[in-house]
Amino acid sequence: MNLLKGVKMPSQLDIIDLHAGVEGKEILKGISLPVPQGEIHALMGPNGSGKSTLSYVILGHPKYEVYSGKVLLDGEDVLEMDTDERARKGLFLGFQYPLEIPGVRLSSFLETSLRYLKPGLLNGEDFHDLLRDKSQMLNIEESFLERSVNEGFSGGEKKRAEVLQLALFEPKLAVMDETDSGLDIDSLQVVSSAINAVAERGTGILLVTHYQRILRYVIPDKVHVLMNGRIVRTGGKELALELEEKGYDWLRKVKG
Ligand SMILES: Nc1ncnc2c1ncn2[C@@H]1O[C@H](COP(=O)(O)OP(=O)(O)OP(=O)(O)O)[C@@H](O)[C@H]1O
Ligand SMILES: [Mg+2]
Repeated sequence: MNLLKGVKMPSQLDIIDLHAGVEGKEILKGISLPVPQGEIHALMGPNGSGKSTLSYVILGHPKYEVYSGKVLLDGEDVLEMDTDERARKGLFLGFQYPLEIPGVRLSSFLETSLRYLKPGLLNGEDFHDLLRDKSQMLNIEESFLERSVNEGFSGGEKKRAEVLQLALFEPKLAVMDETDSGLDIDSLQVVSSAINAVAERGTGILLVTHYQRILRYVIPDKVHVLMNGRIVRTGGKELALELEEKGYDWLRKVKG
């Protein structure tokens, strides 16, 4: 039983000419990127190009400074909001390096978060049914849910726990930062089908990845290439194949 069925999520993320950085150093140098409701946009680019910085800025990490530009969700500028409010508005970040939270049981963390993000949606028993459903979809054993959040989890287990949050919260817009890194082939498939399932129900996805392999399962509507803080190319799914074949140097040359 899917308890969230029928919840309407009209939503679009609009990043407009965003300049941002850290400690006075500009890292994002004018990013414009719309992600319409239910679309999957892959964000690729070399190490250090600014992908995680963009992810953090969208969610409002306090370390990063926004110099100019806008980040709109459903037309509302989120840059003035703290992270907490952005999450309640429907933004979600799957971390490149998920944090361990010793002493906080994963199932309690998920229940508290879901009640906070979507108040009035659940009663106690329903949550456990929903959690069981989503955990099974992601091949996460029930014993995991009783452990502290991410503590002692393997790299791939942490990534599956991030996607479990995504599947439960069904945000309006999810930024998934290298969720595919470190996944074995079976995990890659279950994670991909969970991402596809939330996208089909209206969540927009910004999927940061280095590899074409996840894009065999999660078919992107668009692929964007970020280099040195700028989007230098946008294309369809074939662009990811082209990058795999040619690397990034040709784009540096094309750009001059
Ligand atoms: N807190 C910080 N202090 C100093 N420099 C930073 C900080 N955060 C990010 N940077 C710099 O900003 C640049 C972009 O980093 P970012 O983590 O966004 O890259 P990325 O595209 O996610 O790379 P990767 O593919 O390796 O994950 C890098 O040169 C990084 O060193
Ligand atoms: Mg990164």
